[in-house]
Amino acid sequence: MGQAVKIFPSERQQLYDRLADKLETACHLNRKVVSFQANKDEPLYRWFKYKEGFSSSLVKYFLTQYSKRPGKILDPFAGAGSALFAAQELGWKSYGIELLPVGIFAIQTREVLNAIDAEELKKVVKNLWVKLKEIDDYKKHINHIPITQDAFSEETEIALNKHLAYCDKIKNKQIKTVLRFAAFSVLEEISFTRKDGQYLRWDYRSKRKLPGKPFDIGKIHSFEEAMNRKLSQIISDLSPNKTITLFDRFENKGHEQHPVSIMEGSCLEKLPKLKDNFFDFIITSPPYCNRYDYTRTYALELVYLGCDSDHVRNLRQSMLSCTVENKEKTDSLKQFYSSIGRPETFEKVIEVYNNSGAMAEVNAVLDALNKSDKLNNNNIPRMVKNYFLELCFVIYEMARVVKSAGYCVMVNDNVRYGGEEIPVDLILSEFAENFGFKINKIFVLPRGKGNSSQQMGSYGRTEVRKCVYLWQKR
Ligand SMILES: C[S@@+](CC[C@H](N)C(=O)[O-])C[C@H]1O[C@@H](n2cnc3c(N)ncnc32)[C@H](O)[C@@H]1O
Repeated sequence: MGQAVKIFPSERQQLYDRLADKLETACHLNRKVVSFQANKDEPLYRWFKYKEGFSSSLVKYFLTQYSKRPGKILDPFAGAGSALFAAQELGWKSYGIELLPVGIFAIQTREVLNAIDAEELKKVVKNLWVKLKEIDDYKKHINHIPITQDAFSEETEIALNKHLAYCDKIKNKQIKTVLRFAAFSVLEEISFTRKDGQYLRWDYRSKRKLPGKPFDIGKIHSFEEAMNRKLSQIISDLSPNKTITLFDRFENKGHEQHPVSIMEGSCLEKLPKLKDNFFDFIITSPPYCNRYDYTRTYALELVYLGCDSDHVRNLRQSMLSCTVENKEKTDSLKQFYSSIGRPETFEKVIEVYNNSGAMAEVNAVLDALNKSDKLNNNNIPRMVKNYFLELCFVIYEMARVVKSAGYCVMVNDNVRYGGEEIPVDLILSEFAENFGFKINKIFVLPRGKGNSSQQMGSYGRTEVRKCVYLWQKR
């Protein structure tokens, strides 16, 4: 008789087995509730489509389910601010960190609205087209970068520049911001481009010479059409009745409304400067480890806001590593932690990262796949390694700034490269445990990718899990 071969479960499988009882399919958290889709018809939230956002109902669900009273909430990857505003509606004090000027502008605009005179806005909007026609001498406000060049027809480009020139003349800060924001929100629909995750896709009607099959984005709206629609939406959401209904709901419950506080910059540098045990709740969704490039996808909006090529490149490198272009930030993080007098934090985070068996296995497997040319880009191993390393720092800091018994809710998707599943949910939860969080649940979205798969590694094409993690500080 031959000897039985002892099979060692992989590190990922062992981690799965240890955390399996935390995974729970959550029928109440379907894709619509978790993603921006549910915001599409919500007054205020619907103004600017930030596809990467989550819904306000998800935020309200967790805050009301897991907290008895409003406190302080933080979102270190604030995006367009869904978490901050949903929490504000419930009477919370909201704090956000966001790197991209796109989200910052969306958030600042909503803050400005609190003081807007809706009647004055209506008057200005009524006269807008007459005023724009009067402008013949104007400065070119939109200075394209190579990836946005020729995104608009000449007519639209002129209209946009005239609009910005007109906005410059408006004295009333709130009205000026809302008008700038209205045009900002329609840039995609008036352009020859569509957002497509890693880059912008170009329509066959653009001046660009495009390789491959012609791509048709459908109707391209004129500036006037698109602006009229956007401005009526804004005015309708701001009309006194709507505003009263919107905030009344919460005022009736005795909620005070606090201004949202937003910090512009990378959370890798902003979080370490926040106080210990300050927040009651964190709700956040970092970029996913899926090569999605926000700086390319939102290039039109960045250029509209005045960013030049260098600025966009710097933003790309400062973002949490999630594209194959991101370079390692380890040295700069080391220097940063020394500069704030906390070199031991750097060492501790690196130690937790290095001690994760599942992480080491993922890195080793990806390196091996790369060597045998099984990945479609050589930088995927670097991206994955740095994605987790940077999030390890973020999780350390989140655990530090949240109060004891406070919660952290994180929305994120698992990914797969070269056929290998990367259990983002399990690895990040393991880091979280190391920094003092207890893993209450990992809610798995139904019909999400692969919620029934029990195996780790390259096991066919089952879909990967999309999850909402619920961690609580011990
Ligand atoms: C999934 S989106 C969050 C969307 C947000 N939950 C919402 O509802 O609008 C991730 C966000 O993280 C931001 N981000 C990426 N790297 C960052 C960093 N290092 N610091 C702060 N924000 C960052 C991106 O610009 C993006 O807006």
